Amino acid sequence: MNAADYQSFADAWENRATIRTRPRRVLENDDKLIYPLSRQPLVLSETFLRECPGQRDFALVQTLYKFINDVVIFETEIVDRTARSIAKNRFPLAFPFACRYDAMTVVVDEDYHALVAMDFMQQTIAMTGITPIGLPDEIELSRAIPAAVTLAPQHLRSAVELICVAIAENTVTGDVAAFAKDDTVKQSIKGLMADHLLDEGRHSGFWTRLVRIYWHTASEDDRRCIAHILPVFISHYLTNDIQKSFDLRLIESLPIGDGTRRALKNEVSGLAFPINRHHPLVANIVRFFRSSSLLDSPCVQDALGDYLA
Ligand SMILES: [Fe+2]
Ligand SMILES: [Fe+2]
Repeated sequence: MNAADYQSFADAWENRATIRTRPRRVLENDDKLIYPLSRQPLVLSETFLRECPGQRDFALVQTLYKFINDVVIFETEIVDRTARSIAKNRFPLAFPFACRYDAMTVVVDEDYHALVAMDFMQQTIAMTGITPIGLPDEIELSRAIPAAVTLAPQHLRSAVELICVAIAENTVTGDVAAFAKDDTVKQSIKGLMADHLLDEGRHSGFWTRLVRIYWHTASEDDRRCIAHILPVFISHYLTNDIQKSFDLRLIESLPIGDGTRRALKNEVSGLAFPINRHHPLVANIVRFFRSSSLLDSPCVQDALGDYLA
């Protein structure tokens, strides 16, 4: 795909963007869950169910806060940053105006997603009276992107940043989808996730097309250099460290005995997914490498060997 072939999605954005089409969502005070059980395995662990099942809703509320906090960091510090630099033509790689316009819609969408997430944080605190325990000031990408970018020579740093953000924008989508289908979860939370998903469908295609355009122009040497950086990015991106330290802090905050606390900490230590092709996000990442045409390059196939089935 050439830059000249790029078709803007501006009309779809005008008609479907959630900031253009959705009323404010209000958290309902009903018996449904505020966060899906499947997304906080700690509360499904044997020890938790036996020793402190009454703490379930507290743990789910805190996990929702962590999720909201992650969304705000992702949208405002990661995607906004890269999309904005493309929109303002600060990107070393020149994209046509249609790309830059679409990039600006991504900035608007992402900042709006952050705003909606903050709204839900406030609504949840007001309804439950539960204030957040210490929340992380980073997400995995806050470390994974700089780790990848510093490995690249100066002229490839933006390209690496673009590819990293494109990978992230193609993986969170499936992650959010799990929410939208869970009928045990409050309608407003599901609606919030469904809204977000609708916008992200547009974004994932946008980032994929930009990467296709870039890859088409990249020299064989540049492609090889980037290919070697990809596994480093993926291994940082898929680590469980931040989630794990959050879960440990959550366990610290529960009103339980020392024995139970120790047992729960052990349960959490066993929850990490392996960082290889069996990790649940890897299928999404590989799908992106295919759709962006990166996987057509033998150097990328070789570099990703461990992640390809
Ligand atoms: Fe978003
Ligand atoms: Fe997005």
